[in-house]
Amino acid sequence: MGAAPVDPRSTAAWTTLTKLADGFTPDLRRWFAEDADRASRFTHDAAELHVDLSKNLVDDTILGALVELGREVGLEARRDAMLRGDHINVTEDRAVLHTALRQPADADLEVEGHDVVDDVHDVLARVYSFAADVRSGAWTGVTGERIRTVVNIGIGGSDLGPVMAYEALAPYVQDGLECRFISNIDPTDAARTLAGLDPASTLFVVSSKTFGTLETLTNARLCRAWLLDALRAAGAIEAGDEAAAAAVAKHFVAVSTALDKVAAFGIDPANAFGFWDWVGGRYSVDSAIGTSLVVAIGPERFEEFLAGFHAMDEHFRTAPLEQNVPALMGLLNIWYVNFLDAQTHAVLPYAQLLHRFPAYLQQLTMESNGKGVRWDGTPVTTDTGEVFWGEPGTNGQHAFYQLIHQGTRLIPADFIAFAEPAYPLVDGDTDVHELLLANFFAQTKALAFGKTADEVRAEGTAEALVPARVFPGNRPTTSIMAPSLTPAVLGQLIALYEHITFTQGVVWGIDSFDQWGVELGKQLALQVAPAIHGDETVLAGQDPSTQSLIRYYREHRA
Ligand code: F6P
Repeated sequence: MGAAPVDPRSTAAWTTLTKLADGFTPDLRRWFAEDADRASRFTHDAAELHVDLSKNLVDDTILGALVELGREVGLEARRDAMLRGDHINVTEDRAVLHTALRQPADADLEVEGHDVVDDVHDVLARVYSFAADVRSGAWTGVTGERIRTVVNIGIGGSDLGPVMAYEALAPYVQDGLECRFISNIDPTDAARTLAGLDPASTLFVVSSKTFGTLETLTNARLCRAWLLDALRAAGAIEAGDEAAAAAVAKHFVAVSTALDKVAAFGIDPANAFGFWDWVGGRYSVDSAIGTSLVVAIGPERFEEFLAGFHAMDEHFRTAPLEQNVPALMGLLNIWYVNFLDAQTHAVLPYAQLLHRFPAYLQQLTMESNGKGVRWDGTPVTTDTGEVFWGEPGTNGQHAFYQLIHQGTRLIPADFIAFAEPAYPLVDGDTDVHELLLANFFAQTKALAFGKTADEVRAEGTAEALVPARVFPGNRPTTSIMAPSLTPAVLGQLIALYEHITFTQGVVWGIDSFDQWGVELGKQLALQVAPAIHGDETVLAGQDPSTQSLIRYYREHRA
């Protein structure tokens, strides 16, 4: 176990923040009215991201104390320890080096006497060459057909990153190529995803860091059977193991840190791309786990994606905390969670292409910071990980924004928008992207400044209805804008949230890079499976609730 983290409550900054929070009455109207520079002083550029923090519930004193808190808990030292490859993932005794995945080829990063940047670029070169062959048609299926559909089979970090980025970068996908994603062990997922596909032109990428995940291996076997059955039924391949192996070699590649298990599954090691235990699953979209994305958008665009991550890493590494956007956003989250009792945090992209971004962030933030124990094994001393959630605007406006505007809970929200539309459509004379942006600006304004009872009355509202029509305001938001949603900007956004998550984890003293909390359910699923299948002894060993649910299943399964 690592050295004890600093208890944030023991710091002078925590004491200051506690006093500042006592009886805190934010007043964004007054703060803006009295301070003409507030917007510019609280706005920072990080790489291509333009981040306006001014509608957050802080003044200079609070922000100063939050920065001081970051310093007192050793945020900068721990950041540097992560970047140089110290084993800051203490419960797994591993380095945490996703930042090495996006270092340029000429960078050096010696970890335990070995240059990991060379390893990264060796694998990237293999992934790029494979992707180029698929894209050009040089790589064909077993019948000689070019590949038109790539199906990524993976779950968690081996799915959410690739699918989110594929959706976000849809305008960059090569014509005639499509990616699909199978993650869930619910057989519906494989059945519906494979429906209508032509096996001769379908390539599977089995993505699994451990290559031991039940869902992924089951789905990979289902897909292999689907492929071979269909090719045989069409007379495209002979019966027998040799023909099957030849077909699998042309239609299956794998991405994993466990290349021995890839070989045992029957995928040719020549068609496998590796990565390393110092890349966490939820931090792996920029490793070979992004292979399906590389095929879709091409190596050049993927290079831009990686360069975007790196630009944000450099900002996080070098900017003083006072202007360090990920650090500031992480520290603001600490203010909301630990001092103003926020339970959740909304992420609201005004970009339909980012529709899977909140889901992606759920794994990143909640698998990282949903912990009750610190990195030295002692209990946490404060609340930790808030619930992240969200949907694209404007859809969310017509669903849950009511609660953000007028509910009783404090919900800090990040709004994300781009100047350039991905699809510049017009409705008569109206640029529809401007309607989208009008909503983006209007919502953050309404949340910040609200509408007073007097303003409601001035609209001629009947007195009885005034209370229901008042907007309290002082609902905190951060506005993140960028010129357009390019691969580089997407990389910057992902790295921004990685470092926000890291910052919060350091303040709380937790290991943001393990995920022991997912293990118990996995173990119990294996234990309970025989009971579902009819094993009475295993059934008798279950608790009464589980027994009765399993009996219900057995009675109702046709
Ligand atoms: O069960 C959680 C988890 O381990 C995630 O952390 C990970 O991203 C996912 O499962 C998939 O794991 P793998 O890539 O090893 O299949």
